[in-house]
Amino acid sequence: MLQAEQLLQNRYQLQCLLGNNGIRQTWLALDLQAPDVQKKQVVVKILAFGGAVQWDDLKLFEREAQILQQLNHPRIPKYVDYFCIDDQTLWFGLVQEYIPGESLKELLVLGKRFTQKQARKIAVEVLNILTVLHELNPVVLHRDIKPSNLIWGEDDRIYLVDFGAVQDRAAKEGVSFTVVGTYGYAPMEQFGGRAVAASDLYALGASLIHLLTGTSPSDLPQRDLRIQFTERVNLSPSFVCWLQKMTEPAPEQRFATAQEALIALKSGLTTKKQSQVPEVINNSGCGINNMTEQIPDEIQGWNWGAFLLPWLWLWTNQVWVGLFCFVPQVGWITTIALGAKGNEWAWKSRRWRSIQHFKEHQRGWAIAGLLVGAPISIILWLAALGLLGQAFG
Ligand SMILES: Nc1ncnc2c1ncn2[C@@H]1O[C@H](COP(=O)(O)OP(=O)(O)O)[C@@H](O)[C@H]1O
Ligand SMILES: [Mg+2]
Repeated sequence: MLQAEQLLQNRYQLQCLLGNNGIRQTWLALDLQAPDVQKKQVVVKILAFGGAVQWDDLKLFEREAQILQQLNHPRIPKYVDYFCIDDQTLWFGLVQEYIPGESLKELLVLGKRFTQKQARKIAVEVLNILTVLHELNPVVLHRDIKPSNLIWGEDDRIYLVDFGAVQDRAAKEGVSFTVVGTYGYAPMEQFGGRAVAASDLYALGASLIHLLTGTSPSDLPQRDLRIQFTERVNLSPSFVCWLQKMTEPAPEQRFATAQEALIALKSGLTTKKQSQVPEVINNSGCGINNMTEQIPDEIQGWNWGAFLLPWLWLWTNQVWVGLFCFVPQVGWITTIALGAKGNEWAWKSRRWRSIQHFKEHQRGWAIAGLLVGAPISIILWLAALGLLGQAFG
């Protein structure tokens, strides 16, 4: 067991435990050989191999060391050292720069609620870091963005720590994978081993929702896999839309890149998606012969205006097949056809402003048909029947 004051490698003196997730311990320590007194405080992450700790854990631990060594970003802790101690158990140690400040989780635990302005600041700073990580070749996916891995530095800047879940190459089809990430912050696709750049965007969005609501995303209600948070916050509509887009369940519905998310955030132009407001697409005016476009359910049914006033009705609705109603022998067949198909034909032949507009127009003609067309129609039908009777009588 490790204890405070313990000296590792004759160099790192443990001070206090920052985190313990069962497999890894994270210690704040003093680097007694630090070349720069300012950088005396370091963070030492320790992994004891064996027991519950498996090869996958070691692989991730080594990858964290490798990635930190490669990265050189002012908002990511710098790599200091990596060592291995072999006494009874096998210990691995990763030493990195200490970022003075508080993690966002610590601030949440202290009861801090974040304002829209603060959440935006965090979003912008993290997206700036992610833009760099995602543009590296091979791409670096963090895969565990959450409040405990974001530090509000004493210098008022936001830092990203804990690269213990990082992925630095594209997941291959059929190759086994290690499931990483934290429930509530990691998107669904990540649990299927298919993390993409947009998976980090989801985790950032879910973290921001936690900061704004004070409730962990896993404890917030969900509808259609979407986190329901709007009732608990008081945010500008465009920021709400932006957060909703960040946390879309399907990765292809989110922003494609961190850069895109950043531009949208700064412009404040994220608008509600069509799919969230189910609306029938206005495909009127597509042409009467068009067989592919669907007719909205709301307008199906018998068209009384067309049936009772076929001579006038067809002009305003631009249903020119209705001209057949003037042809003596087929006129009455056309009239019945207009009653049956009038709505569909009128929808397809003219461009309507909306379904509402269409319905109002047809209602007007139905009323006119009943008041004017019906009496005339009855007379005409009777006359036609009389003529038929005379012809066959
Ligand atoms: N470089 C760092 N500077 C300051 N604090 C850190 C640093 N790295 C980690 N921490 C703190 O220690 C905690 C645990 O470390 P972390 O790397 O996240 O370990 P774990 O992999 O167990 O989650 C973090 O939540 C953070 O508060
Ligand atoms: Mg962590």
